[in-house]
Amino acid sequence: MHGWELPHGAEDRPLRTGVLVVGSGVAGLTTAWCLCRSGVPTTILTRASLSDSSTDWAQGGLAAVWSPEDSTRSHVADTLTAGAGLCEPGPVRALAAEAPEALRRLIALGARFDTGPDGGADLHLEGGHSARRILHAGGDRSGHEVHRALVAALRGRARLDVRESVRVVDVLTDADGEACGARVLDGRGRTGSILAGAVVLASGGIAGLWPTSTNPPVCTGDGLAAALRAGARARDVEFLQFHPTVLVVPPRWRRPGDRGVLISEAVRGDGALLVDHGGARIMAGVHQLADLAPRDVVSSAEHAHMARTGEPHLFLDATAFGAAAWRERFPSILRMCRERGVDPVTEPIPVRPGAHYHCGGVRADMAGRTDVPGLHAVGEAACTGVQGANRLASNSLTEGLVMGRRAAEAIIADFPRPGPPVARPSSPPADGGATGGIRRLLAEYAGVLRTDEGLALVEAAAQEPGRAAGLDDASLTATNTALVAALLARAARRRRESRGCHRRADLLVEDPAWLVHQDWSLDDERRPRVRDVPVGRCDDAEGPR
Ligand code: SIN
Repeated sequence: MHGWELPHGAEDRPLRTGVLVVGSGVAGLTTAWCLCRSGVPTTILTRASLSDSSTDWAQGGLAAVWSPEDSTRSHVADTLTAGAGLCEPGPVRALAAEAPEALRRLIALGARFDTGPDGGADLHLEGGHSARRILHAGGDRSGHEVHRALVAALRGRARLDVRESVRVVDVLTDADGEACGARVLDGRGRTGSILAGAVVLASGGIAGLWPTSTNPPVCTGDGLAAALRAGARARDVEFLQFHPTVLVVPPRWRRPGDRGVLISEAVRGDGALLVDHGGARIMAGVHQLADLAPRDVVSSAEHAHMARTGEPHLFLDATAFGAAAWRERFPSILRMCRERGVDPVTEPIPVRPGAHYHCGGVRADMAGRTDVPGLHAVGEAACTGVQGANRLASNSLTEGLVMGRRAAEAIIADFPRPGPPVARPSSPPADGGATGGIRRLLAEYAGVLRTDEGLALVEAAAQEPGRAAGLDDASLTATNTALVAALLARAARRRRESRGCHRRADLLVEDPAWLVHQDWSLDDERRPRVRDVPVGRCDDAEGPR
């Protein structure tokens, strides 16, 4: 796919826009919608097509206090518990308080959520939630509906450009270090610049780097790497969440490029059970919420069971649902499983944990502001303190809605007017051939359970990826993969404890001395340096700026 092409001479004659939004998931589209509605000229850049985002793939829904039996206080408490001590209380309170209104606005835009027999919202339960507060759409197509509604609202908006198949290479900065646009790479390998009053990174996470992943392949950390190179800080990068139930496709059904099919936590919310090859339950007695324990607990129990028994995967047994319930509640999962030779109506689904969500990211406050003026980060690309060491299920689409609006309002209020870009020293891109090896090491040593020894192998390989002659799609991927993998491995080695979704086989206990965020930045030589920031000690009541 070539998508949009930069015009000839784009390297010398930059294009211009008001705000450049990088990414087309819920956070980016919401930001763009709010900017366009206020008349701000906006350009959305997306690495593949508009729908290649984790949002469009998301099955599980949107968490928001919706019933009189539930409360903001309880949503806050569940989020903090799942976050294992690393959530920032101010941002969590803001998310829980603003979630219902954010959903009402989306419904007003045309999103349709599932209703129960009484016509009210059909509220679901997922891991770590103590109340039914998850709204779903189309059964298991919640993210698709969110995406559809936002794209429909944006369609035909004046002053909006959508540029598909374009990657951000670097964020451009002016003489004062303020973001003023981006250097980009189009599908034909041509580079150019787009100048903007502000840049919003909404480019998703990094879980696409792992071979078993619930993310689209484009989620490989482009935004995080570009932000670091521009001078922003990255926070809590070691915290990558593994979803407990990713379909293990039987070998004869495996297709090239089939990376993993998520079996939504909502399936367990409706009563499915994790069992081993002998049919014994895995989660009974492990946690009071059993199969609905926070997902770091479930993934780690699965991993321990597989390591102990040598079983290559476990099973999720939802045969008790019956065919009608499967068709009505989880039509997409049913179809995707059957297309891969597994019939969940009659047989347990083979599953194992898969890379799912990056809880860390570009350090940002609750207006998406990063350490670089004019550079905002929202959604999974950002680390606002809401997700802590382990994100509570279905809080991420909600966070994207809340943060998209907040970031747009902040940009409109700040009204940034950066100067022209200044050239900054750059190092040659990494050899495109390095990506595969680094990914294999990430899969082997930076998974559910880690050791210092294994992480050291990841770090060493990622620090020496070799050099490419020039910039192209493969070398940009390798450059960003190497930077993200080296930082993740380094941060995971330095965090000498197990907490949330960061688990160390050689340091199994949680250590109160590690109630700190690791904030990483790059020095002038592009070497990583770190600052520890105790939880709750942010300068701003609502975030880390
Ligand atoms: C799921 O459907 O299990 C994923 C939901 C989420 O990650 O929030």
